[in-house]
Amino acid sequence: QKINNKYRMSFHVIPTIGWMNDPNGFSYYKGEYHLFYQYHPYSSEWGPPHWGHVKSKDLVKWDHLPIAIAPDMPYDSDGCFSGSAIEHDEKLYLMYTGHLDPTKKPEDIRQVQNIAVSSDGINFEKIKENPVIGTNMLPKDAKPQDFRDPKLWKKGDMFYVVIGSRNIDNSGQILLYKSKDLINWEFVNTIARSSNKIGEMWECPDMFEIGEKNILIVSSQFMKSEGDRFNNLHSSIYLIGKLNYEKGEFEHEGYYEIDHGFDFYAPQTLIDCKGRRIMIAWMNMWGQRWPTHENNHGWNGAMTLPRVVELKGNKLIFIPIEEIKNYRTNGYYVEETITNDFLLLPFRSFSLEIETIIDVSNATRAGFRLCKGKKEETLLYFDRNENKVVLDRSDSGEGPGGVRKTTPNIKDNKLKLRIFIDRSSVEVFINDGEQTMTALIYPSDESNHYEIFADGTAKFSIIKWDIRV
Ligand code: FRU
Repeated sequence: QKINNKYRMSFHVIPTIGWMNDPNGFSYYKGEYHLFYQYHPYSSEWGPPHWGHVKSKDLVKWDHLPIAIAPDMPYDSDGCFSGSAIEHDEKLYLMYTGHLDPTKKPEDIRQVQNIAVSSDGINFEKIKENPVIGTNMLPKDAKPQDFRDPKLWKKGDMFYVVIGSRNIDNSGQILLYKSKDLINWEFVNTIARSSNKIGEMWECPDMFEIGEKNILIVSSQFMKSEGDRFNNLHSSIYLIGKLNYEKGEFEHEGYYEIDHGFDFYAPQTLIDCKGRRIMIAWMNMWGQRWPTHENNHGWNGAMTLPRVVELKGNKLIFIPIEEIKNYRTNGYYVEETITNDFLLLPFRSFSLEIETIIDVSNATRAGFRLCKGKKEETLLYFDRNENKVVLDRSDSGEGPGGVRKTTPNIKDNKLKLRIFIDRSSVEVFINDGEQTMTALIYPSDESNHYEIFADGTAKFSIIKWDIRV
């Protein structure tokens, strides 16, 4: 297989060759960040997952390491599905789902939880006690076919794990287990359940504390869309509340979409030595067209930029890791006021960051034509009549199209955006991370121009940097 480099990203984690989906085992171990991922090395299409592995000192520059675990045991023979990592006794423990599909009949599928351990963070050994949580430890109303993606954490001297599940009535739910040694586990309770409109199966859970609150993240299959929200095939959401560890009860209010673009799924978080809660997600979505796969580029899949998660009021905000600033180069600053007009900006790039404040007091529409060429453009603008930020990739290039919208919180008539472009991706952070919009785009090589436009009058302050890793 030859690799076609056309759409390869430079400051995002992508596979050297083959297929990538969910981030796994995102952790900080012995002074370095480790990231594993669902990996099919033999083609650019999903297949029995292995765990690919990269590590980094700063979350921007990553080194590729050998495959950490492969489906080669009776308890994981059809795939090492998603899971997480935790340090214990100076060793790095991975907990992952063994996928078993012995007859290729959906009703015979089984999913169990296994452990692999490493003392150097590179070579992993599966333990003889596997599986450590079998389907015999499921509550009666949970289906053994959908029991996956364990996320570990420690509280006091107890380990806890949340695991994704499907109720026999086909709604999503999250199961909590506890253990003193990561090997012997006990079921605590089902801590959260979806009503019918919030998804048929809940996968890739994460649970962490921020301040006084507990946050539960879930990736929910087939949510019903609500206006601008939940318009992708599946949606990653968060719930804010308080976990009672003893009773295994999680009281919470409401549920929120994490990212308002097209390509953000299965996020996972870590906490690092600076106490930062950092999230990374698969920058992609199931059930859509993948030009790098369709056109035999030899690879498919990417991770988002790592994002620091903070609590502001009773909502989460998402801020790009500050380390990315060390890779800024070729800075350029401009202030422009335009009225019913457009203006081509004097730079070209496929690897950049734009930081902008747009004064929209007298504009009905104002924004950017990103990755613009003769025929292509990705539109990002504020629409006053609708009071929305709009990301429109209908004419972006050869990938899937579509429009996504989200309602910003405009203060003093100013909209603040941070935009990252990395060849085939765009990530937008609105008003200091109050909302984010993430999308894959596939512009042709000549579409590396940037333009601003306004209906009515808009004043733009723009700082642009190239990002060079
Ligand atoms: C989510 C997911 C996980 C599963 C993995 C398999 O994208 O379906 O639930 O573990 O992908 O690759």
